Amino acid sequence: MANPLLFQPYRLRGLEIRNRLWAAPMCQYSAVAESGPGEGVPGDWHVQHLGGLGRGGAGLVMVEATAVVPEGRISPGCLGLYSDEQEAAFARIVPLVRAHGARIGIQLAHAGRKASTYRSLPGEPEGSVPEGAGGWQTVAPSAEPFDGLATPRELSVAGIEGVVEAFVAAAERAVRIGFDAVEVHAAHGYLLHEFLSPLSNRRTDGYGGTPENRARLTREVVRGIRAAHPELPIIVRISGDEWVEGGFDRDAAVQLTGWLAEDGADLIDCSSAGNTGRAPIPVGPSYQVPIAARVREAGLPVGAVGLITQPEQAEGILASGQADVISLARPLLADPHLPIAWAHRLRAENAASLVPPQYARARF
Ligand SMILES: Cc1cc2nc3c(=O)[nH]c(=O)nc-3n(C[C@H](O)[C@H](O)[C@H](O)COP(=O)(O)O)c2cc1C
Repeated sequence: MANPLLFQPYRLRGLEIRNRLWAAPMCQYSAVAESGPGEGVPGDWHVQHLGGLGRGGAGLVMVEATAVVPEGRISPGCLGLYSDEQEAAFARIVPLVRAHGARIGIQLAHAGRKASTYRSLPGEPEGSVPEGAGGWQTVAPSAEPFDGLATPRELSVAGIEGVVEAFVAAAERAVRIGFDAVEVHAAHGYLLHEFLSPLSNRRTDGYGGTPENRARLTREVVRGIRAAHPELPIIVRISGDEWVEGGFDRDAAVQLTGWLAEDGADLIDCSSAGNTGRAPIPVGPSYQVPIAARVREAGLPVGAVGLITQPEQAEGILASGQADVISLARPLLADPHLPIAWAHRLRAENAASLVPPQYARARF
């Protein structure tokens, strides 16, 4: 078998990445504290978790959804990048991951009307954390709640401008820390996605109505980061299909991707759904890959993610031109060393180089 594409280097803007098998962002709900000192701060758990993903052979490790403002956290246990304390804590982690030969990016996020929820960990309640019990008033394009969650407050135009500034400021911190890339989270029903979707955006001003207006916030975020950092690789995660009649669909995703290419985005990380709890999602192996393949027609490279569990499956997606890179989430929770194992299974020429010398006697 020819040297597999999956383990050939990938170039993202100026960044050389050792392979095309990446670690998807995964919330750990494990900030040092839920408020006050330690709020949104990554701790020892994150050192081990992210260090393990870097050690396991992934090309690019993407840090979980990290809020650009306090009220943008999905839960009180989620990370942020809006304080000096958070910046200092990330500065400890980034070199550890890079020392393993991996690159590390951070997913910058605002959870919008899906913020202030309980941590998604075993034994925790579901739904919104009430204000006064550690929760907060959420914001959104319109004052319409996500199924079962608290009603958000509609953002003013000044509030929207503040969100853009917060994304740009967080990217500034990310660059200062030494992150190799940022990912703008515009998927899964969080704030930017809420603006993109006609299901959650009922505005009649310049940020609602037409596709151009609904895309304005996401585009301003990408353009703002690009203007400040001409060399920084920028990935945008989108939900390329809401799987709902009348929702944000693949045609809309192709149109958005064309605009994001103009704005300076480098790659679209193509996920789906999340803006309603009632979508009939046809979950199965590679179920989001056809969306990635469609979005790829817009001219930007794309990443595929979602129920990709076998090395031959991943290699086939790249070899058939449906995507440029593959991201794994849950398989890496089960085994952070999976990229090393897959490199051996596919007989990649550089498989041995992924193995830390200390683990050279392992049988991958
Ligand atoms: C524990 C966990 C946390 C997640 N957190 C995030 C997140 O912070 N940001 C995001 O965009 N997706 C998040 N996801 C979605 C994953 O990145 C991925 O898209 C999804 O799990 C499908 O990939 P998989 O089948 O390889 O798990 C999370 C998934 C899991 C399992």
